[in-house]
Amino acid sequence: MPLAYESGEISGKSMEMTLLHRVAGFRAGRLLLAGAGKRERFAANELRTVISAAVRHLKGRKIKEATLSLDGGYSTSEHVTAAVEGAIIGNFEPEAFKTEKSGLIESFTVNVTADNPGLDEALERGRIIGEAQNFAREVANEPPNQLTPIAMAARARAMAEQFGLACEVLDQDHMKQLGMGALLGVAQGSAEPPVLILLRYTPESGRKSPHLGLVGKGVTFDTGGISIKPAADMDKMKFDMAGGAAVMGAMQAIAQLKPPIPVTALIPAVENMPGGRAQRPGDIVKSLSGKTVEILNTDAEGRLILCDAITYAKQIGCTHLVDAATLTGAIVVALGHLNTGVFSSDAALLDRWTHASQAQGEKMWQMPMDEEYKEALKSVNADLQNIGGRPGGSITAAWFLREFAGETPWLHLDIAGTASLDDAKPWMAKGPTGVPVRSFVHLAVNWKD
Ligand code: BES
Ligand code: ZN
Ligand code: ZN
Repeated sequence: MPLAYESGEISGKSMEMTLLHRVAGFRAGRLLLAGAGKRERFAANELRTVISAAVRHLKGRKIKEATLSLDGGYSTSEHVTAAVEGAIIGNFEPEAFKTEKSGLIESFTVNVTADNPGLDEALERGRIIGEAQNFAREVANEPPNQLTPIAMAARARAMAEQFGLACEVLDQDHMKQLGMGALLGVAQGSAEPPVLILLRYTPESGRKSPHLGLVGKGVTFDTGGISIKPAADMDKMKFDMAGGAAVMGAMQAIAQLKPPIPVTALIPAVENMPGGRAQRPGDIVKSLSGKTVEILNTDAEGRLILCDAITYAKQIGCTHLVDAATLTGAIVVALGHLNTGVFSSDAALLDRWTHASQAQGEKMWQMPMDEEYKEALKSVNADLQNIGGRPGGSITAAWFLREFAGETPWLHLDIAGTASLDDAKPWMAKGPTGVPVRSFVHLAVNWKD
């Protein structure tokens, strides 16, 4: 143990970084001591975060090459995967549109002392998942003038071609024919035409069921529409397609990790704008399910595009549905920026999800779904209204979606508080986080029965 620890100069607390130069006995010019916190609490999830922070520390010092040494109990497959994910996640900067780049780590090596079987595969899995999460972050961070619904479909198609997924894009006419009135109502105020993006993974076994549907909110910009949002921070509403981007990222990894069950991604992509053709408060639309919806606030648009995507997912044979959406400001009030809100109609699916998200270190908190909450969505003039008032706003929004999922096991993630960071953390850049890409991938890849 170096002298600095014995003297108390460094404490080993989590994320503490100490860069030593020319340490006797080391061939490397520099040695970074990364604080990992309490030994009892240190597992693969903590390792991922610490490695991200270490990479960000080195990158900020113009270092281009690093080697991680994992020894003893810390060289299992799980640790190697998490470390590689962490290195890749920490190496992401939101600078795609900057002329001068800050410079990233170019080479990252993992040295393990114990020769466990499957370490190459573990490393490869970490690379696939880390890159998938960064792909989701990159798409989510695209400016809204460039990432229109059509452009989002083009990104999905290019990814699908590269990784061997089937991609289908339903255009406005097709959606009109099908009767997706709720989705189309949101899009009608924008000059940008809406699309429903589908990505399909089919296992080699040809197995048809269970069939997992991943649904992601793809509002490429949310002005609020006629119920327009205040100007402050409206730029953040470019992240209103982060759920869709996360679904795209997950599919990129799923294509490579090949889970045993079919997985279909559905991303309704629209822009929510005010304008002469925009939908009004008071409008009534007919959804694909046949249910009519009275629009009382055009800013509650996420649920309107998701309800038609959920109905369509059921029509094409999905037996289990998980959606991710930057759905409500109310979830930020309830859970802050730490936990994603989880809502479900099905105990078994919730169980699978809890397992997946805990294994991946993506923080989630289950929200209540008592039947009484849905009373708030009763409309005088239609089957449902699209808002349920301020109390329990994230729960009434979830209930709106559940009315369309019906008997199909369904789980909803409100990521409004967790999809992006307002300020950089030691382990992650400011901007989109890529939540919940890793949990999505874990859920599909580890699906048993
Ligand atoms: N995209 C927003 C939700 C949001 C808020 C995401 C803050 C990220 C950060 C959503 O479309 C919205 O505007 N929801 C309204 C619903 C209300 C009108 C019932 C909200 O939360 O205020
Ligand atoms: Zn909105
Ligand atoms: Zn929105």
